[in-house]
Amino acid sequence: MMLWVPLVFALCSVPPCRTDPRAPELTVSLDVPAEKRWAPLFQLYDADFLRRAAADVIDSTVPKWVHHAVIPIVEALEKYIPPPYAQEIRGMASFYSSSIADVVMLNFAYEVSAFCTSVVAQDTKGNIYHGRNLDYPHDVLRNLTLDINFMRNGKLAYRGTTFAGYVGVWTGQSNKKFTVTGDQRSKGHWWENVIAALMKSSPVSWLVRETLSEAADFQDAVMRLSAAPLIADVYYIVGGINPSEGVVITRDRRGPSDIWPLDPLHGMWYRVETNYDHWLPTPPQDHRRTVAEKTLNSTGQEHINLDTLFKVLHLLHVKITIYTTVMSAAAPEEYRTELRKVRGIAYSMLWVYNP
Ligand SMILES: *[C@@H]1O[C@H](CO)[C@@H](O)[C@H](O)[C@H]1NC(C)=O
Ligand SMILES: *[C@@H]1O[C@H](CO)[C@@H](O)[C@H](O)[C@H]1NC(C)=O
Repeated sequence: MMLWVPLVFALCSVPPCRTDPRAPELTVSLDVPAEKRWAPLFQLYDADFLRRAAADVIDSTVPKWVHHAVIPIVEALEKYIPPPYAQEIRGMASFYSSSIADVVMLNFAYEVSAFCTSVVAQDTKGNIYHGRNLDYPHDVLRNLTLDINFMRNGKLAYRGTTFAGYVGVWTGQSNKKFTVTGDQRSKGHWWENVIAALMKSSPVSWLVRETLSEAADFQDAVMRLSAAPLIADVYYIVGGINPSEGVVITRDRRGPSDIWPLDPLHGMWYRVETNYDHWLPTPPQDHRRTVAEKTLNSTGQEHINLDTLFKVLHLLHVKITIYTTVMSAAAPEEYRTELRKVRGIAYSMLWVYNP
């Protein structure tokens, strides 16, 4: 088992690993009414392809019997979904020529099964870097991943990385303020609870978007992401623009369970979060956290930047990694997302999910 680390590292140190395509960018204007604002999506993608992809994702995520059982409830649910998501979902359904229930379901399908690695780090000069891999056991998502520029009053309000058809974001940046990623905490079979929960709680990816849209700065973002009731447990990783502004928030549905900040004065210049509480050991078959820490240790604080962070995340690339994003709120133009190709044998040996 010890052999593969240098092997994969060697593979990744050479240029071919950096040839993955960038995610397409899409501009979505918040000045346009919510029902219409996703229209540009349908210039980028064929509606038929999106419909088939959505059906695939729903079929592989939501058990058939649940699907049938929830359709009437989901239709009624539209009454309870807050703005702007209800209107955006309704608009999306009309562009898709699908039922609203299907688009609601698609949006909830993406709330489960997102495995991830997030890293927030500070270099010796006090610059903050933030990166993530998003892993999801569904190939079609590689073709649906997008970087969205959300515009308000004609100016960039915030950026986010998401999948076509999904109104929430798991990865985003508020320029010159903060960056956020979400990593799944509980493996959900939470369909039973979702209806009741939604009445008073937010999907985790909607809270990210709302925070990107509204929070004044890093501190405010951390407060909002810690406090608002959620429909599922999650880890939020937040990076700021000033030294020490980096934190992993471990969330219970009702509130924060743990806050784990950077502590650069005591040598803790990075935090790594995968899908386990940081104070507990990781399962023996999942090496992502240890590999990330070893690689960050050997990179060193003096050499950390968006390129080296990208390499660390590349090394952690597992078979189902969909995309890698690196970002730094203080240098917002550096935001970039690359789509991961399905890798050959060396990568499939690296680590296989065993949910
Ligand atoms: C998905 O994207 C890959 C390249 O990233 C391409 O080869 C493939 O044809 C795409 N599939 C569809 C259905 O668009
Ligand atoms: C990384 O370095 C820190 C600080 O020296 C150390 O505590 C930690 O055990 C190292 N992690 C790994 C996986 O080697």
